Amino acid sequence: MADLSSNFIGIKSPNPFWLASAPPTDKEYNVRRAYEAGWGGVVWKTLGEEGPPVVNVNGPRYGAIWGADRRLLGLNNIELITDRPLEVNLREMKSVKRDYPDRALVASIMVPCTEEAWKAILPLVEDTGADGVELNFGCPHGMSERGMGSAVGQVPEYIEMVTRWVKQYTRMPCIVKLTPNITDIRKPAMAAHAGGADAVSLINTINSITSVDLDLFAPEPTIDGKGAHGGYCGPAVKPIALNMVAEIARSPEMRGLPISGIGGVTTWKDAAEFMALGAGNVQVCTAAMTYGFKVVQEMISGLSQYLDEKEIALSDLIGRAVPNVSDWQHLNLNYISKARIDQDACISCGRCYAACEDTSHQAIDMSEDRVFTVKDDECVACNLCVNVCPIEGCITMERMEAGAIDPRTGRVVQAEPADWTTHPNNPMALKAAE
Ligand SMILES: Cc1cc2nc3c(=O)[nH]c(=O)nc-3n(C[C@H](O)[C@H](O)[C@H](O)COP(=O)(O)O)c2cc1C
Repeated sequence: MADLSSNFIGIKSPNPFWLASAPPTDKEYNVRRAYEAGWGGVVWKTLGEEGPPVVNVNGPRYGAIWGADRRLLGLNNIELITDRPLEVNLREMKSVKRDYPDRALVASIMVPCTEEAWKAILPLVEDTGADGVELNFGCPHGMSERGMGSAVGQVPEYIEMVTRWVKQYTRMPCIVKLTPNITDIRKPAMAAHAGGADAVSLINTINSITSVDLDLFAPEPTIDGKGAHGGYCGPAVKPIALNMVAEIARSPEMRGLPISGIGGVTTWKDAAEFMALGAGNVQVCTAAMTYGFKVVQEMISGLSQYLDEKEIALSDLIGRAVPNVSDWQHLNLNYISKARIDQDACISCGRCYAACEDTSHQAIDMSEDRVFTVKDDECVACNLCVNVCPIEGCITMERMEAGAIDPRTGRVVQAEPADWTTHPNNPMALKAAE
């Protein structure tokens, strides 16, 4: 079995699967059971400053989006940071770390944006034996209204300032957790980098209203007739998270900045995708909340098997897809493919035909006895038929060989790649050539 042991910014864990800061990591009872189930590390549910405890709502805290099979696709929450006293959390963290020295234990922290507040909490956390801190600049509800969480995470100058304080007042490695509720994720990541962060983690939850109760006329979850926006997470946010991770990983200004990937990781494959795009490890919340702690077993065995089959080490996977993340103008315009329908697999449902005929390129023919075939002289290989087909693998894209004639354009397919930057139709390219 492939060796999954991980060293993320000096924090060692037997595997790269950590539980993200959230209810699964809110107390000793959970964290002990999580470690027993196999999790390599946890980021403890966010700690706040000493003082009157945080008060959560006592109505429903979660909203959700489901697939047709009622599988949970997206989860929305209006919870705050931990509502347990700081002293209790610290005591429990110390006890857990003492008994599980080989597992990672990182403390998530969110205190007011003052130097005194950060200076005060860091030694208390350090005293627990925690391996590092994660600065929660991401929480989009409840805390941001109090000038914390995403209220800080949306202002790069604050991120840099607080990160500097943290680096000044503790020797523990510092991970800055980023909010996705921002236009360009590179800005806050660069600020964290400039402030001396050892790593960034992303994404925290996305501002959202998942649904509206059409009898009460209020957003759900509804508390006594009212609702508020919450934070969205789970499988539905994975594409957004992957893109943001890739944007940071391929940014020349942040080359080498370690990334902890978060957002919708449910299977080993999700984790491997985050890692291929540059994440040194992953954090998981919704999958554990949906399926329980033992989901990590599938992640461990699946990733090991994949690495064995590929004959690569975990370290070889990290960042392996980054050089292939490009910008549109650099894609090969001489790459021509056509849709192919496997007639043995086709169930004649006609979805490909309806989609292509009504909304795309009228490139699928339907015979009287409902046999569907691709018209190569119309097909632009948009992939819509593949995506709407209910049978996986029934429709595929086949690349045309160099030298063949594309029946759509009448042009010979070129072997040499060509991109938009040098394309004759690009006015900028013409200007450059002049
Ligand atoms: C109920 C709930 C509470 C959360 N609380 C926190 C928190 O206290 N601190 C934090 O940094 N993130 C918190 N998160 C965000 C998660 O740590 C994670 O960033 C997010 O859920 C995306 O990961 P996922 O798609 O695997 O759930 C919370 C998420 C949920 C669902």
